[in-house]
Amino acid sequence: MMVKTLPQVHIETFGCQMNESDSELVRSLLKQEGFGFTEDRERADVVLVNTCAIRENAHTKIYSHLSELKALKKHRPLVVGVLGCMAQNLKNELAEKEPLIDVLAGPDSYRQLPRLLTSALDAQEQGLRQKAFALDLSEYETYENIMPDRNDGVNAWITVMRGCDNFCSFCVVPYTRGRERSRDPESVLLEARDAATRGFKQITLLGQNVNSYRHGQWDFAQLISAVADQPGIERVRFTSPHPKDFPPTLIKAIAVHPKICKHIHLPLQSGSDRILEMMGRTYTGTEYLALVDRIRSIVPDVVLTTDIICGFCSESDADFQATAHLVERARLDSAYIFKYSERKNTIAARKYVDDVPDQLKGQRVAKLVEIQRAVTAERNRRYIGKAVEVLVEGDATRSSTQGMGKTDGNITVVWDKNTGHSEPGTLMTKHIFDASAATLYGE
Ligand code: SAH
Ligand code: SF4
Ligand code: F3S
Repeated sequence: MMVKTLPQVHIETFGCQMNESDSELVRSLLKQEGFGFTEDRERADVVLVNTCAIRENAHTKIYSHLSELKALKKHRPLVVGVLGCMAQNLKNELAEKEPLIDVLAGPDSYRQLPRLLTSALDAQEQGLRQKAFALDLSEYETYENIMPDRNDGVNAWITVMRGCDNFCSFCVVPYTRGRERSRDPESVLLEARDAATRGFKQITLLGQNVNSYRHGQWDFAQLISAVADQPGIERVRFTSPHPKDFPPTLIKAIAVHPKICKHIHLPLQSGSDRILEMMGRTYTGTEYLALVDRIRSIVPDVVLTTDIICGFCSESDADFQATAHLVERARLDSAYIFKYSERKNTIAARKYVDDVPDQLKGQRVAKLVEIQRAVTAERNRRYIGKAVEVLVEGDATRSSTQGMGKTDGNITVVWDKNTGHSEPGTLMTKHIFDASAATLYGE
């Protein structure tokens, strides 16, 4: 009897944690239908690329990656599938211009992948060229009953809501991931228990607008507390929230529950009220600072991080100064700072002119990075001489004689293993003797 070997799939993931989580879903969906997976691209029958569309440089990176696959496909049969936000966003361009691509599937269409890939593999065997697309966005799909096939490590991602209804004017996400929808809390808790029994020590709840979670009577404060109550889970994190959805009950839950990490990512985007209004962010700089103060008064040792965009449409020197001033004033623990990148079809692309020269955007980013770096270094120095609890993740990236873990506030701690080390997933106490803007050094 001829035994047909399982088609081997290799998946590569770009973009945010939600894509990481989606790739785990895709793996689970395909394994259920008899596909195998390989880490080795050279041995794969199918290569899937899970893509991001958030800024133009995300597109550029993926295009250059696709040209590598083109070279590979010259020498042997290979089915190429492009998934994720860029697939959804650039469907027409990709479908027409990229002969390389056999399958395109957007974030709400992954249940169709086994069928699409099987038919692409069959077509290839018969020497036919065929393209298959699944790009409908859904108002309901939450992949609720699919247990993800998780990557090893200490952390388990759990996507609790999908999509985004905020339509910040600069942002492509509402177009790539569709309308907001939340999962049944019971299915989230089931996943959390499953992750705990598989030995994951940390859970990160995910959604593009995670704290606007709502399902029946359940809001995000209740959900995160219930997840943190699951036995075996040491830490619960969440990303990414919007500043508009921080009711006192949520701040309180973070303050009182010992397993909920005292780290809040609080995307600011700009410190200029005029720009915030154009962005559609629904708060002013003053309101943002008031929220920061309120959070700090209820969660005293909280670590706050942020995202900022420089060079949004019509941003003047005065607008930029307002952002710089707010960053100095807020003294957040760290920030991701981006150059504004116009995304097709967004509100900003339709209504405003992308008129800040690229070079000036770059200068503003560099200036803000410098300001924040000094603030971060100062914030990190407050740990010197103190003991912190770390969740061990493994070896430090620079050297295998050093261990690495994260504080509750998600700050990286590095130590010499000969001063005390333990397996990934254990909690250890480290005494901090030095700190830079990126790392705490402990023993
Ligand atoms: N849901 C999150 C953000 C998701 S995108 C939130 O509401 O904050 C992550 C970050 O990318 C954003 O916070 C923003 O700072 C940045 N970003 C989004 N669109 C961008 C664009 N068009 N150009 C530059 N940066 C952008
Ligand atoms: Fe984008 Fe705004 Fe939604 Fe965040 S809240 S994903 S920035 S539209
Ligand atoms: Fe990118 Fe989509 Fe995430 S655009 S940042 S992969 S939601």
